Amino acid sequence: MVWIPGIDEVPMSLSRIDEQGVSSITFKRVGEGTEALSRTVSGEILGIRGPYGNWFQPVNGRCLVIGGGTGLASLFPLLKQLVVLGSRVTCVYGAKTAQQLLFREDLMKLLSSSIHQLILTTEDGSQGKQGVATSVFKNNILSKSFDMVYTCGPEPMMRAIYDYSESRGLPIQACIERMVKCSIGICGSCAIGEYRVCKEGLILTTEKIRTVLDEFGIYDRAGDGHKEFYSTA
Ligand SMILES: Cc1cc2nc3c(=O)[nH]c(=O)nc-3n(C[C@H](O)[C@H](O)[C@H](O)COP(=O)(O)OP(=O)(O)OC[C@H]3O[C@@H](n4cnc5c(N)ncnc54)[C@H](O)[C@@H]3O)c2cc1C
Ligand code: FES
Repeated sequence: MVWIPGIDEVPMSLSRIDEQGVSSITFKRVGEGTEALSRTVSGEILGIRGPYGNWFQPVNGRCLVIGGGTGLASLFPLLKQLVVLGSRVTCVYGAKTAQQLLFREDLMKLLSSSIHQLILTTEDGSQGKQGVATSVFKNNILSKSFDMVYTCGPEPMMRAIYDYSESRGLPIQACIERMVKCSIGICGSCAIGEYRVCKEGLILTTEKIRTVLDEFGIYDRAGDGHKEFYSTA
């Protein structure tokens, strides 16, 4: 949880976790909090609480990693772990434009070995294949088998990936983002079904997702608790 004094406190994933103890966050400017965060300069004070919740469990095997937009921030440390473990990684990563693809050069370097595959997609076609991550992954990956599927990104995208994984009997770990306020399991604002994202999440596995299918990828909750349905367009 990143506190910008006088402005807001916003939940963020760690996008780099360095052995020397240096970590980083990577964020998109969407509103007042992230706008203020983007204006901070060296020497200013921010408050940090956490880390909270659980994390991706790396598997040594054939791994499919699918990220959308800033979702790659939480997948990047996992990708590094998978490579170190010796897993064979297929990574599909999509954003709206080439400029919005995070860690592009780092990803290419990290997954440069021929045992890995990196598929970049952009909606405007400015880099990689044109389209959204799910359409491209359906065309390219459908016939392959994996020991684990990992995903982080817009919830409808993750729901499509979950449905695909279930239909193929592939286990999945999905990183869920909900409205986080207290971040210590008290207020319930981050709930999806019976799970509090800040406590039992962020990562939900196949077994847990099966119990929240009436919500997952269908609606989220705004800060005041009302349901906000995802667009089906
Ligand atoms: C566990 C978790 C990890 C996240 N990691 C990242 C990350 O690594 N990089 C990144 O760019 N973004 C990340 N986000 C999203 C980020 O927290 C929001 O973009 C940010 O809080 C927006 O704040 P704002 O004041 O700039 O915008 P606002 O105008 O306040 O909100 C814009 C939108 O951001 C979302 N949002 C606002 N406040 C919260 C909140 N407290 N909890 C969850 N969503 C909120 C809502 O959808 C809202 O409509 C993460 C969210 C969660 C829950
Ligand atoms: S944010 Fe309060 S319970 Fe998770």
